[in-house]
Amino acid sequence: MDIRKDFLPLSRPWLDDEEIDAVAASIRSGWITSGPKTAELEERFRALTGAPHAVAVSSATAGLHIVLAALGIGEGDEVVTPSMTFASTVNQIALRGARPVFVDSDYGTLQALPGEVERAITPRTRAVIPVHFAGAPADLDPIRAAAGRAGVPVIEDAAHAVGTSYKGKPAGGHGDIAVYSFHPIKNITTGEGGMVTCSDGELAKKLRLLRFHGIERDAWKRYGKGGTPHYDIREPGYKYNLTDLQAAIGVVQMRKLERMNGRRAALAARYLDGLRGVGGIDLPESVAYPHEHSWHLFIVKVTSMDRDAFLGRLADYNIGTGLHFPPCHLLSYVRERFGTKEGDLPECERAGARILSLPLFPGMADADVDYVCAAIREILPENAA
Ligand SMILES: Cc1ncc(COP(=O)(O)O)c(C=O)c1O
Repeated sequence: MDIRKDFLPLSRPWLDDEEIDAVAASIRSGWITSGPKTAELEERFRALTGAPHAVAVSSATAGLHIVLAALGIGEGDEVVTPSMTFASTVNQIALRGARPVFVDSDYGTLQALPGEVERAITPRTRAVIPVHFAGAPADLDPIRAAAGRAGVPVIEDAAHAVGTSYKGKPAGGHGDIAVYSFHPIKNITTGEGGMVTCSDGELAKKLRLLRFHGIERDAWKRYGKGGTPHYDIREPGYKYNLTDLQAAIGVVQMRKLERMNGRRAALAARYLDGLRGVGGIDLPESVAYPHEHSWHLFIVKVTSMDRDAFLGRLADYNIGTGLHFPPCHLLSYVRERFGTKEGDLPECERAGARILSLPLFPGMADADVDYVCAAIREILPENAA
């Protein structure tokens, strides 16, 4: 086959004149940091998820940080989470002085195994953080039941899950707390950004304080007509607010969400069709419970050649790839600090050695998917004519 001239990236945000106009309007309004647009994006998230509270933040990482801080998780505490997740979660647990306790994931779906979550819980457990991996939901019912028996909250890592639902209800609408990401690779983007949703009003209040220095009232209200510039701080906070410039992009992206996720689903279906029966790779398996998949990522596993060599061969075809994720329990600092090692989580490790993410973004053409499928067939020796 002919090698394409242009590079096909792993991802590209779907931004057009609507987002440009929204940012221009925000600039013209004279208020560019957190303000009415941020409040509007929070309102849209409450409507999307059904969660009573939504707190916009500068990233999902920032959101995870203030959630752990607000729950008072620290030295001597344990937090249960899959190893097959982004390091951001584990970093935040470690930075609080707590210990991540890792659970294995299913090889086929890459979702945390609920039975393992139950086994990982100890009297020191203070929270469970499942991940809605690649846009399919984690099996929340048994995970929530196990956490409930231990009396600890579930913090859904919904970084991949804007538009995902589990048993008919959106991710984040099931219970305690959920954290979303608006990084440019995600289903909606604000450049960088994130959202925390939660059911508890007191927790939401704490999150709002921790997100902005510990100051009670929003700056746009203090500096607006009729506001007063005074403030007091009872507990110091961070600087993790989302700006109106970013939120203006987010509001437009939310309007486009169904269209964008619909396109992602169509492209994923085309990949599944195009790669069915191709030897040397395992395709993503569907979770067994009712769900809506937001197709954040399309992850395959290469079984007949070295994964890194395969990534290199795809690069030769001008195809970008991703690696979501190297297992967290095998990261150097995690091994050193928490004594984890190879062999601890066999399924996650088996998957971790083989996974790669193929290009998937709403602006992709059907022909791009066909090109990637044809390249894979050509690269993997099993499929030689
Ligand atoms: C599973 C998961 N959790 C958390 C994050 C952190 O998101 P952010 O980049 O918004 O901090 C990511 C980002 O890639 C992620 O994939």
